[in-house]
Amino acid sequence: MLHIDGLTKSYGRHILWSDLTRTVPSAAMTALTGPSGSGKSTLLNCIGLLDRPDSGDIRFDGRPLSGVSSHRARIFRRDTLGYLFQNYALIPDTTIKENLQVALPRLSRRESRARLADALAAVGLAGRAQEPTHHLSGGEQQRLALARLIVRKPALILADEPTGALDEDNATMVIGTLRQLAEAGATVLIATHNATVRDACGEQIDLTCTGHPDGPPPGPVPPGLSPTGRGRSRRPASVRVG
Ligand SMILES: Nc1ncnc2c1ncn2[C@@H]1O[C@H](COP(=O)(O)OP(=O)(O)OP(=O)(O)O)[C@@H](O)[C@H]1O
Ligand SMILES: [Mg+2]
Repeated sequence: MLHIDGLTKSYGRHILWSDLTRTVPSAAMTALTGPSGSGKSTLLNCIGLLDRPDSGDIRFDGRPLSGVSSHRARIFRRDTLGYLFQNYALIPDTTIKENLQVALPRLSRRESRARLADALAAVGLAGRAQEPTHHLSGGEQQRLALARLIVRKPALILADEPTGALDEDNATMVIGTLRQLAEAGATVLIATHNATVRDACGEQIDLTCTGHPDGPPPGPVPPGLSPTGRGRSRRPASVRVG
């Protein structure tokens, strides 16, 4: 479970969020919504220790993430955190297999082989381990990034617009896989503008107006997103994304 407590972040005079306090449950998918510029990516980056809040605390499973040493930050990123970016963050000029091997935890050779094969099959890339990653289409690269999460099974997964550049089938696969990882116990937080992705999540954190309690939100509210939709808890009928 992720606890965000009294978090404040501003760039110059632009306050993204002020005294933001939320809980992101484990074994669930939580949508992080809000207009463009409301600080969704910045919040994911603060949780992922790529950026720092101005004040406040972040704790994961009771352990503080704010103010940790660079050594502890490295261990947290290696052992606990999985990031799914829109730009895939794959290692270029290597094979599919090599991209997965760097993500594998320490396992026997037999277990490693089985876990790689299972992950590739789960994302529809079975039998393609030796192909160079630059041969892959955008959707295939995103699926490989997803396979990297499957082999690592991180306890905390941060996804930033993971379906933004994908067709409906690939988007459905990404959300379905993130749901499986959540059902296996992971805490999954997904920044999204997509109402279907939001509805596939059981929980929602909405950043609309979090930095501007007395003023307008920083950007237009995307169609289908309610500025007051925070903290809903409902189960989707379907994970179709389009
Ligand atoms: N390093 C930085 N220096 C100054 N301003 C920044 C920096 N990083 C982000 N910002 C500003 O912070 C605000 C929030 O950015 P962020 O990318 O977190 O928004 P977002 O909610 O993810 O938006 P989108 O939905 O468009 O991805 C934006 O106004 C952005 O310009
Ligand atoms: Mg963003």
